[in-house]
Amino acid sequence: MAKLRKAVLPVAGLGTRVLPATKVIPKEMLPVFDRPALQYVIDEAAAAGIEHFVFVTGRNKGAIEDYFDSAFELDATLHAKGKTALLDELRALLPEAGRCSFVRQQAPLGLGHAVWCARDLVGDEPFAVMLPDMIMVSDPPCLAQMVTAHAQTGGNIISVEAVPPEDVSKYGIVDVGGPSGGGMKTLKGMVEKPTMAEAPSNLMISGRYILQPRIFKLLADQGAGAGGEIQLTDAMARLMGDDAFHAFEFTGRTYDTGSKIGYLEAYLALALEHPDHGSEAAAMIKAFAEKL
Ligand code: G1P
Repeated sequence: MAKLRKAVLPVAGLGTRVLPATKVIPKEMLPVFDRPALQYVIDEAAAAGIEHFVFVTGRNKGAIEDYFDSAFELDATLHAKGKTALLDELRALLPEAGRCSFVRQQAPLGLGHAVWCARDLVGDEPFAVMLPDMIMVSDPPCLAQMVTAHAQTGGNIISVEAVPPEDVSKYGIVDVGGPSGGGMKTLKGMVEKPTMAEAPSNLMISGRYILQPRIFKLLADQGAGAGGEIQLTDAMARLMGDDAFHAFEFTGRTYDTGSKIGYLEAYLALALEHPDHGSEAAAMIKAFAEKL
């Protein structure tokens, strides 16, 4: 079975739900405690053996490209000041040269269109899609668990997780059947942003996918769906007729940084989990809570 080497990261979104914070800073670059939100997703990808990161980007997102480059002045200054541990830490975060590609989406036509923009860079091999708004924490990380399952079943895999019924209209929602191998379930259907009445379940598509390259052909002629956008969910629903789809039920912690409160939750949770600062953060949060 072809090894999963590439991950597509759609990062062209304007982050309107987090304005004004995202007016000049890409939402993926907002710090979640001591590192940009995107770093957590890249770490998850790397832990799953991903070798190449394809960023589908847009105007005003140049900071993302700069972040994955070495910063010569910063490196030289840290070196001159003898801050070698910090320098080593920064260098360790940098993907090897040639392992990041950037392509522009040009127009905000939807997630399906964003993924389609990566077709030439992905080529004819299975690939991951990782939605960087979602920071997913578990050991082993979510995508690594999906890669293990994929080695057993092949096909397409979507991470899903239960949400309260009143939240189904915010997400893609799936319909699942019985066990399909690798600890997963058969995917029987999916619908993007259904009403509560239309939703086949309360299992939402949570932002990690392993897809076969066939999806690109379907995305090429996919019409607009929910919200007037070209939806990845709609193209996957069409592919489902011909190709196996599995639902991977993720049981770790998922933080949706795409809203202000979700971002706050991610920030607090990841500060609490920080190996060096977690206990100080806990003491600070407890002291705050006592004053409420
Ligand atoms: C996208 C997907 C949706 C998924 C969601 C997870 O929606 O289209 O299926 O459930 O991400 O965050 P968006 O958040 O871009 O509207």
